[in-house]
Amino acid sequence: MMSSVRVECAVKAGALIGEGPVWEESEQTLLFVDIAGRKIHRWSPTTNQIQSVETGDNVGFAVPRRSGGYVAGVGRSIVAFDWSTQMMTSLAEVDEDKPNNRLNDGKVDPIGRLLAGTMGKEVRPAEVQRRQGSLFSVNPDLTVTTHLTQVDISNGMDWSLDQRTFFYIDSLSLTVDAFDYDSTSGHLGNRRVVYRMEEGEGLPDGMVVDGDGRLWVACYNGGRVINIDPATGVRMQTVSLPVMKTTSVCFGGPDLSHLYVTSASLGLDQSESRQQPLAGHTFRVLGLGVKGRPLNSFSG
Ligand code: BGC
Ligand code: CA
Repeated sequence: MMSSVRVECAVKAGALIGEGPVWEESEQTLLFVDIAGRKIHRWSPTTNQIQSVETGDNVGFAVPRRSGGYVAGVGRSIVAFDWSTQMMTSLAEVDEDKPNNRLNDGKVDPIGRLLAGTMGKEVRPAEVQRRQGSLFSVNPDLTVTTHLTQVDISNGMDWSLDQRTFFYIDSLSLTVDAFDYDSTSGHLGNRRVVYRMEEGEGLPDGMVVDGDGRLWVACYNGGRVINIDPATGVRMQTVSLPVMKTTSVCFGGPDLSHLYVTSASLGLDQSESRQQPLAGHTFRVLGLGVKGRPLNSFSG
């Protein structure tokens, strides 16, 4: 059946780097961050209101916590925070030997373990001190395990439907990679390339796996989201957005059939900003004919 894909500007977020969208089913709200704007936002499609919390430092991601509230990656700290009191408590620190690093994308695995990565100092957007980042997991007992080092920009991640594959993006490698994943131990092995970015697609950034096991990858500087079949490495679909710095994706809406796409405005020059008045807002893609999967919450 042919579906007619439609893109609308859903949230007038006006973010410097809109990122990390997460759909909270119980609340029917979209949580996302503005990394450089140092804010966590929560938007309700019903009221079209945005509630915001200031984080005081760059915030790479925010996800719900099973025991209530959220966990976020602020600077180099994994913090727990309570929306109503706005109280933040540090749960763990990473990269203590690299004060210029910061946390970037993070996501919770099917058993409730949090994976989060770091990156070195960014001179300009996407121009970073190379190989300074790492990929960590924060386990339910709050111990931290290092999985990868020498990462440039640790970015999108998600798991296959059977949980045995971890998909991962180090943006400057210009590839989407896969690892074998042992969800009991959290061990990663057997890294391989699933997809190599083509000319014009920009840098791979945030990513989500849909209910059919396919990948949706936001293309930073590519103004699009691409849909990859990880079994074949074939790009199945391209969705164009009216902004170049598309940063991340998640499924949401009443039946998880809408794809939300965040974007950035930081790094656009004056003429680019004029051409992309919607840069920094969050978009909604309708009519894709696929659904997302429910979100995992951090169990620590
Ligand atoms: C990072 C940005 C970076 C961009 C492009 C984002 O996830 O947070 O700082 O410029 O990816 O790789
Ligand atoms: Ca990102």
